[in-house]
Amino acid sequence: MKLYFSNDEYRKKALSTLNVEKSKHTVGDAFLLITKDLSKEDLSNLISIMEKELNLPLDICYKMTQNEVSVNDITKSKIVELAYKCIESGKTLGEKTINNGKINTSSWISHVLYEGKLAREFAIKLGVDPTTAQIQGILHDYGRKITHSFEHVTKGYEKLIDEGWKEEASSCLTHSFLNGGRCASNEQAEEGFFVDENGNPCWMDGTDKDDITIFLENYKYSTYDKVLNIADLMATSQGIVSPYDRIADIATRRKLDSTNRGYFLAEFSNTLVDILEKTGGKIPETVKEPIKATPNLNIEEINERFKAVSDIFYTHYKSNIAKQKNNLIEEREI
Ligand SMILES: [Fe+2]
Repeated sequence: MKLYFSNDEYRKKALSTLNVEKSKHTVGDAFLLITKDLSKEDLSNLISIMEKELNLPLDICYKMTQNEVSVNDITKSKIVELAYKCIESGKTLGEKTINNGKINTSSWISHVLYEGKLAREFAIKLGVDPTTAQIQGILHDYGRKITHSFEHVTKGYEKLIDEGWKEEASSCLTHSFLNGGRCASNEQAEEGFFVDENGNPCWMDGTDKDDITIFLENYKYSTYDKVLNIADLMATSQGIVSPYDRIADIATRRKLDSTNRGYFLAEFSNTLVDILEKTGGKIPETVKEPIKATPNLNIEEINERFKAVSDIFYTHYKSNIAKQKNNLIEEREI
């Protein structure tokens, strides 16, 4: 699907974004941005846990999630803590369901909360700002408030810009793609896109590039973006799984596109090795050399490498990253 911004202003802003800057906001503010305008049904489990633990009437608790009553920073942090408590007990934030009860409308919020937590854990280990990473995790799918289609990428960016979250908005654009290559894990390859004999993404001459492709060609992925890529491919709406299991899970819902697949899995393996190394993990000789999705490498070989790297990465995550001291909603001086 081709992705375009709604107007030139957004286009210009996106092209001038070259670096992810440290967020000036708090995790509590990011979370309340998510809950704003959601219905009581979408937040029913969260507001009932707030009612109990904050000892406040249900109606006030809902108003807090809508920014209709003033909430101080400590209470905002407490609300985030309760949201995590809610999802970690196996519930979504609300009970509203669509499609005969099969899809819970707030399950994407569980996914972004898990992703935020994961991004924070990686950031601590990598020495970048944990709060910025967590906020990006929480806001990267902001476009899902508007649409569940692939356009959530550009819509989320525009909405965050409109609401004054300039530093965080690029996460909406970068999270679905790896290393600036125009292919996503679960989308069809764009017309004109191919991987050349060196395993690099290319475009046939005369191809009409959409806005997101032009943005990606101009943008250099930062540590925050890489962390977000990995976290997005480990966080489900139920918790954290290995990258391999998450890709397998995505493939059950939508067939991975064959043009995209080799490049995506090869680049994802390389990103995992890069972050593994930077977070103190041991890298076996067998996966040390980056893998390139060249035409003479078949998909089974790439998949084998991805499985091997994913297993090493997930074991390293569980024993060294998830267990580190982490004050999940601690706020820092701004
Ligand atoms: Fe996501």
